[in-house]
Order: sequence, then structure tokens, then C-alpha cells
Amino acid sequence: MTEDVRAPDVKPPPERLYGRQRGHPLRPRQERLLEEALPRLRFPLEKAGTPKLGFGKEPAQIWFEVGFGGGEHSYAQHNAHPDVGYIASEVFHNGLCSLLTRLVPVEEEATAPIPDMLRLWDDDARILLKAMPEASVDRLFLMFPDPWPKAKHAKRRFVHPHNVELVARVLKPGAVWRVASDDPTYQAWVEEVMGAQPYFDAPPPVTERPQGWFPTRYEAKAIAAGRQPLYWTFTRR
Ligand SMILES: C[S@@+](CC[C@H](N)C(=O)[O-])C[C@H]1O[C@@H](n2cnc3c(N)ncnc32)[C@H](O)[C@@H]1O
Repeated sequence: MTEDVRAPDVKPPPERLYGRQRGHPLRPRQERLLEEALPRLRFPLEKAGTPKLGFGKEPAQIWFEVGFGGGEHSYAQHNAHPDVGYIASEVFHNGLCSLLTRLVPVEEEATAPIPDMLRLWDDDARILLKAMPEASVDRLFLMFPDPWPKAKHAKRRFVHPHNVELVARVLKPGAVWRVASDDPTYQAWVEEVMGAQPYFDAPPPVTERPQGWFPTRYEAKAIAAGRQPLYWTFTRR
């Protein structure tokens, strides 16, 4: 990309991903979900160059979620939009198991039919996004990303000038990038980063979850704790 980005003063994002991959020890059912069901549902990296061929049926559109947590939002979007090929990414094993639990019955981890239009990516979302063609994604979701509130960790935030370029590259013109955050530092950061980039129309956020957005676990926690989420809709120019 050739456009000039007046990036805030932040170091490049680290190649490795910070944050937890493992939480509570996994129960036998969860081990089976990761060993038997996840490989069947994993988005095939070799199809990254032709992503519509990475699903059971060829989808009309491709939507991508970064860091789905427990998967409530991915699952709801997938059910509400059956023609869309949905790539749901998460690295945290307990989160992957939460979504897999909804998709695969007990004792049928290796055999249950899997949805055609939902695929999981259990590694850093940036790896797959980098491998996908320019203008190949119709919508991207970043719901309540890890806030990394300390200034010295700002480079770890997903909303980072480098990642904004990466997201801009894969989104089609007119495609939407939805971002939500409840963290005041991150909220100000999103405004700063998105105010300084040339790729997206970036109107101010709203304070009520818009129609067509689905709740997430982090959103519920934030509201219960009295924090005000903000919801942004950025449109690729
Ligand atoms: C604060 S949680 C929010 C989870 C969920 N979106 C929600 O709203 O409940 C952020 C999640 O993003 C995941 N994550 C962070 N960076 C990621 C990346 N580059 N690729 C995939 N997942 C990522 C983390 O593992 C974590 O589970």
C-alpha cells in the first residue's frame, strides 16, 4: 500500500502473540474437542489464497472475527447469516473448546457432521490475514480486544497502525470493520489510531450496541462492572 499513514508514535507490533493460550486444565471432553473436532473445523491454510474454497460450500461472502473468546458472537453471526463463510479466530484453548462444545455433540468429536460455513483459526489471526488476498473479506469483527492498558504495551494492541493496514488490505472497498471496547485507554487509543489513518471512514462510536451486533461475554462483564462499551463501525474506502 502506498498511502501515507500518520501513525501515532508506537513501535511495530511484536511478531509473537502475547496473552494466554491455556487456562484451566482441560477435561477429557475438551482434549477430544481439540484433538478430534478442531482439525476437522480448522480453516485450511493452503486455501488462504482462495479463501472461498476453504468452506464446505462456496460462500457468498467471507466474514472474519479476531479473538472470539467464548465464541458467543461467532456462533450467533454464523446462525444469523447462513450464506456467509465465517472464519472465527482464537488462540485461547478454553475459548476454542467453548465454541467447539456448541458445535459438536459429546462422543461424536471425530464423526459429527460439521457446519459448512464456519471455520476456526486457532493461531494468531494476523498469520491468516497476511496469507489472504487483497480485498477478499467482506466484514471483520474485533470485539473487546485485550486492552493492554499500559503505554509500554501499546504495540501489543490489535488496533495498531500496522494491523490497520493489514485489515485494510484484506477488506473489500465498502466492507465494514466492527470494533467494540469497554476500556477507556483502548477507547481513546482507537480514536487516535483510526483518526490518523487513510483507509477507513471512521465516524465516532456509539454507546448502545447497534442492531445486528450480538453480545459477548466480555461485553456482559464490562456492563456488569459499570464500564461503558463503545461500538465503532469503520468502512473501507
Ligand atoms: C478480551 S478477550 C475478548 C473475547 C471476546 N471477543 C469477547 O468479547 O468476549 C480477547 C481475546 O482475543 C484473543 N486474541 C488476541 N489477539 C489475537 C490474535 N491476534 N488472533 C487471535 N486471537 C487473538 C485472546 O486470546 C482473547 O481471548
